[in-house]
Amino acid sequence: MTPLLAATGLFKSFGVPGRLGRRTRMMAVNGASLTIGAGETVGLVGESGSGKSTLGRLLLRLLDPDDGRIVYDGQDITHLSDRAMRPLRRDLQAIFQDPGSALNPRLTAGAQVAEPLLIHEPNETRGRRHERVAELFRQVGLDPSMMLRHPDGFSGGQRQRLCIARALATRPRLLIADEPITALDLSIQAQVLSLLESARAASGLTMLFISHDLAVVRYLCQRVVVMFRGQVIEHGPTEAVFTTPSHPYTQRLVASVFGENGEARRDPFLASPRQEGCTEYQVGADHFVLANF
Ligand SMILES: Nc1ncnc2c1ncn2[C@@H]1O[C@H](COP(=O)(O)OP(=O)(O)OP(=O)(O)O)[C@@H](O)[C@H]1O
Ligand SMILES: [Mg+2]
Repeated sequence: MTPLLAATGLFKSFGVPGRLGRRTRMMAVNGASLTIGAGETVGLVGESGSGKSTLGRLLLRLLDPDDGRIVYDGQDITHLSDRAMRPLRRDLQAIFQDPGSALNPRLTAGAQVAEPLLIHEPNETRGRRHERVAELFRQVGLDPSMMLRHPDGFSGGQRQRLCIARALATRPRLLIADEPITALDLSIQAQVLSLLESARAASGLTMLFISHDLAVVRYLCQRVVVMFRGQVIEHGPTEAVFTTPSHPYTQRLVASVFGENGEARRDPFLASPRQEGCTEYQVGADHFVLANF
């Protein structure tokens, strides 16, 4: 199967202040390769500072790699100009770690969700665009009457849903979700996960899910990629990596979260479809039953 996205040997360094006031380069991504198959949800895990977000931004061409190659849907996009990338932007979307900074405080919520539609579907009538934005609001569990509010009139969880609505507006093929639930309360985390899952089920969305929460990755992702100091040190089917990790770093990481034989030791994130249209989650001692959006 040809992967939807394939990255080979990516490098990215940043200039940072060094000793004696000299600038030095630090390798954020150091020869990383990964593939994402169409319709797959791939987890990208690793400790803080291991290069996950930088790799995500390189894959979307939000940052230029120093070296390496990125192929999207059979097309080499490594050196495409911003202009040449523009038509691909409707396919490649992202949700970032901090929903607050991803939104423009001066624009209404409706205008932010409509923005990608204005860029990518400029010939659409105003009425149709408004209807689509309202549909996206409903899809993420926000009342369309909230369209006229500004982002500061939303809670953190609602802002993240707004970012998801905007990311889904152009019906992307690939979504890079960078710690989309980390900043949220536990109960809201489960809602946002449920929302991403419904989007995947409804449109066959392909997703790279960046997280350092192994329990959530185990629940959500078919494959997992482990980063350590800018390098991909292990990858494979999620259950295989979590039950029989081969790299010593992954072994330590997995052992700190899961017990012997890979059973969840802490934060078990289990779902069982007890009621139709609902997903039941057990997160640690807390229990949630959620209606699917
Ligand atoms: N714009 C930048 N300028 C300088 N250094 C940077 C920049 N962006 C990232 N880095 C550095 O690159 C390394 C990797 O950062 P990155 O944000 O990719 O890590 P991460 O795995 O996403 O971490 P976290 O789990 O904390 O989000 C870090 O040491 C970081 O300080
Ligand atoms: Mg990060």
